[in-house]
Amino acid sequence: MPLQPIEIPDTIKGIEHTPEAADLIDVANERIEKFMLAEESVSDNFVPCDFHLLDQALTWIAQNHLLTGNRFCEFGAGFGVATLLTSLRGMESVGIEIESNLVDQASTLADELDLSANFYCGSFVPRGTSATTDLGREVENVDTSEGDIYEEIGLGLEEFDLFFAFPWPGEQHFFEAVFERGAAVNALLLSYRGRDGMHLLRKD
Ligand SMILES: C[S@@+](CC[C@H](N)C(=O)[O-])C[C@H]1O[C@@H](n2cnc3c(N)ncnc32)[C@H](O)[C@@H]1O
Repeated sequence: MPLQPIEIPDTIKGIEHTPEAADLIDVANERIEKFMLAEESVSDNFVPCDFHLLDQALTWIAQNHLLTGNRFCEFGAGFGVATLLTSLRGMESVGIEIESNLVDQASTLADELDLSANFYCGSFVPRGTSATTDLGREVENVDTSEGDIYEEIGLGLEEFDLFFAFPWPGEQHFFEAVFERGAAVNALLLSYRGRDGMHLLRKD
């Protein structure tokens, strides 16, 4: 099978956060709440994930030595919390987000927290990809119309070791197809699936 699932145990919910990660999550959650109340033009596609569970999954991945390198990319970064949490862990982290007001928020947080994560406004969907003919079923909550941003980043999909995505229900196949098609062998895709928690795939 080209994508190999790696089971993340439920016991990760007992993993403690470092004080720095706990602070980052608190600041981000407060900022997101204010932003959602104040901003009239919040994209319907933006919903934040469970950042505590995300940080616990990142710790579990590190504890189990599953990473083959140090580069991280968040597909659809929103406020960029996954990108910031991995940057805090010393990864070379990039967040890709299509909504410019969210990119501004994520970049401001990175500056305030003195983290070297970089956020880019554009699409994670590789240029020339046809969502319907190349990647199977249509997706409603991923913008497939814009060009990708990899040239501006200076790194291709195949140069990242860990990806994170929070797909809308039923749309995970699309993110998996982008990952399967473009990522390097042994790269990991972590995704948040709401009540079903965190899922991890390795490209074989
Ligand atoms: C469900 S939110 C998840 C945000 C963040 N990853 C998190 O877990 O909190 C999905 C995000 O993907 C963004 N998005 C949708 N299509 C995109 C695309 N083609 N390229 C980059 N971002 C996209 C949306 O604007 C939205 O902010």
